[in-house]
Amino acid sequence: MTKGVDSAPAKASLSSQKASSTEAAKLEKYPQEVSTLNSYEVESQLVSPHITVLLDEAVQALAIKPNGVYVDGTFGRGGHSRKILSQLGVSGRLFAFDRDLAAIESGQSIKDTRFKLIHSHFSEMQAKLAEEGVFDVNGILLDLGISSPQIDEASRGFSFRYDAPLDMRMDQSQGQTAAEFIAQTTEQQLAEVIKNYGEERFAKSIARAIIAERNDGRAITTTGQLTQIVANTVTRFEPGQNPATRTFQALRIFVNQELEELSLTLPKCLALLAPHGRLAVISFHSLEDRMVKQFIRDQENRDDLPANFPVRAADLPQPKLKSVGKAIKPDLSEVKLNPRARSAVMRVAERTSIL
Ligand SMILES: C[S@@+](CC[C@H](N)C(=O)[O-])C[C@H]1O[C@@H](n2cnc3c(N)ncnc32)[C@H](O)[C@@H]1O
Repeated sequence: MTKGVDSAPAKASLSSQKASSTEAAKLEKYPQEVSTLNSYEVESQLVSPHITVLLDEAVQALAIKPNGVYVDGTFGRGGHSRKILSQLGVSGRLFAFDRDLAAIESGQSIKDTRFKLIHSHFSEMQAKLAEEGVFDVNGILLDLGISSPQIDEASRGFSFRYDAPLDMRMDQSQGQTAAEFIAQTTEQQLAEVIKNYGEERFAKSIARAIIAERNDGRAITTTGQLTQIVANTVTRFEPGQNPATRTFQALRIFVNQELEELSLTLPKCLALLAPHGRLAVISFHSLEDRMVKQFIRDQENRDDLPANFPVRAADLPQPKLKSVGKAIKPDLSEVKLNPRARSAVMRVAERTSIL
């Protein structure tokens, strides 16, 4: 799984070509227009350096009610948010979250009273929504991982394609950078991170080489240094892939506590969803997808009592979620247009009316 770190830059120009000149002219003429589907889609295509994955499928999965309240937990460059807004009526609401300040900055161009963009981890969504007086919602979307602008901005330190400070934080206003983690970790912990989150078979050798370099008095502070150490250590890797792909992915997931965030957030989504509300999660890593699948399964089948346990069917815990359809993956034409989409899997579930 290689979301982000080795992906091709998003092609904004390709997207822009899709927007007809009539629609672009309309957008220029009516910048405040809030409920015209085409102007939102055109704006998204014109401004976004990120090609949204499973755009139509994810928004369809939310089964938007025009006057409903929705949450986009991962605003990014707002591809999904704009499409949701285009389907909401005048009293619909959309709350979007992102922990990346650049994403928040980019969202300031959306001037729409139905929309609120909040700088926060999505694991805080329940508390942040409560501050807005919102206690239940009709749909929540999580499009996990990182966006193309994060990868393509060298100074963020997510990519081995550029030599830059080894940062990797989505939220640069807080937390430990990848360089700070490497400076204080043990060889064993580093090997575990690289193995578990990068599924890297050379994890132990890579960790050994990194710690040896550090112990020789050479602090690992740049993406270039890390890429070089891994390249000198890894002898076999997938064709066409940079040998550092898996190590970079692992450090990114660890630094941003991506799995912890997801496991904290899924129960909060459940608590927030109104009866028949939808949850759609797009994962790019098998560990994320497994967590989402298991969560839905556990909520669907809440009977974990031993076989033959004397209990009446009516007294059994009732399901709080039911899955909607099978896992959805981007089709070949989407992957061709956007190679980042190749490892995406979306799972959808609906809240039952059981309290
Ligand atoms: C794949 S992008 C989303 C792209 C978006 N759907 C679009 O169409 O532009 C993921 C975004 O989620 C943000 N993100 C990832 N984990 C997050 C978390 N735990 N809390 C808040 N934002 C998060 C990242 O900063 C990134 O901007």
